[in-house]
Amino acid sequence: MNSSYNLLFGFLCFSFITFLTNAADVCVKKSACVCEFSNGTGIDISTSNVSTFYPAQTYEIKKEGAEILLTTYYFHPCVDILFKSNTTVNNTCTDPLSVCRHVDTYVKQGNTSELFKKETTSYDFMGKNSVSQFSAEGDSIIYANGPSSTVVLLVCAETDGVLQIYSLAEPNKIVLTFYSKSACLKQLDSGRSVGSTLLIIFFSCIIFYLVLGICTKKFLMGATGIEVIPNLGFWSDLPNLVKDGWVFLLNGLRLPTRAAAPAASPDRNSYDSI
Ligand SMILES: *[C@@H]1O[C@H](CO)[C@@H](O)[C@H](O)[C@H]1NC(C)=O
Ligand SMILES: *[C@@H]1O[C@H](CO)[C@@H](O)[C@H](O)[C@H]1NC(C)=O
Ligand SMILES: *[C@@H]1O[C@H](CO)[C@@H](O)[C@H](O)[C@H]1NC(C)=O
Ligand SMILES: *[C@@H]1O[C@H](CO)[C@@H](O)[C@H](O)[C@H]1NC(C)=O
Ligand SMILES: *[C@@H]1O[C@H](CO)[C@@H](O)[C@H](O)[C@H]1NC(C)=O
Repeated sequence: MNSSYNLLFGFLCFSFITFLTNAADVCVKKSACVCEFSNGTGIDISTSNVSTFYPAQTYEIKKEGAEILLTTYYFHPCVDILFKSNTTVNNTCTDPLSVCRHVDTYVKQGNTSELFKKETTSYDFMGKNSVSQFSAEGDSIIYANGPSSTVVLLVCAETDGVLQIYSLAEPNKIVLTFYSKSACLKQLDSGRSVGSTLLIIFFSCIIFYLVLGICTKKFLMGATGIEVIPNLGFWSDLPNLVKDGWVFLLNGLRLPTRAAAPAASPDRNSYDSI
């Protein structure tokens, strides 16, 4: 019973320390086009938020050359915009979106003729910015779409924006690549302020100190129950100290008037010496 409790406690200590050391490296999503690491750097592709879609085209030959599938992927980062097409048949790209696939099927006319004629056209919804997620490394955006997903890899490159097809191997996980200057890791203007960084470090230190102290007292000194908290006396007195501090502040840095208790306790008098 007691040993299983120790085991659980050791596990908690371990996972907390692992959490503290790992949490720092995730690129946290700030908006559909910005994600930020804990050190204030990050990816901001908002300069690629232009008025048109970035296209990438590919084709596939089927039925021993009798049929050609011409596929175009359209990508628009940051905000969902309306895809302009003049059909509603076989078209799921009718609402504002981020990724749409357009497939035209051309069929060869007869055995001898080299003429191909367009047979079908379809537009498939592939994802929208309102439900997009950044990868932990900040190097791709994942668009969930039912059981499928579309991944757009972000590559820092000397261009204003070029879309290419990376992999069509898994139909449920189409991977595109977006090359752009905006996809480069940079210091974000909206980086975390020095004050909040200090606050986070301060509270992390307190928590770390508590966990370390509890682990030490528990395992090295064999403390049980509430005794495992380090410097128990100080912590249990802290609420009173804070309350006194507030009363002191609210009274305009004067000692609280104590009509009912003129004989203040010795440690209250010590304020007078300040
Ligand atoms: C910030 O953190 C990221 C991810 O851990 C890292 O790639 C980058 O080099 C860091 N930048 C600075 C200036 O430390
Ligand atoms: C993207 O551009 C549109 C207009 O083209 C603008 O309304 C919108 O605020 C921009 N969004 C971002 C995140 O830059
Ligand atoms: C739809 O637009 C395409 C070009 O984008 C054009 O070739 C086609 O004729 C248009 N179809 C209709 C029915 O307007
Ligand atoms: C087309 O070729 C196939 C064999 O490749 C043949 O069986 C068929 O009869 C041909 N059709 C025409 C219209 O020439
Ligand atoms: C719509 O898709 C179906 C099934 O793929 C196809 O048979 C039909 O011809 C398509 N319609 C148009 C207008 O492309």
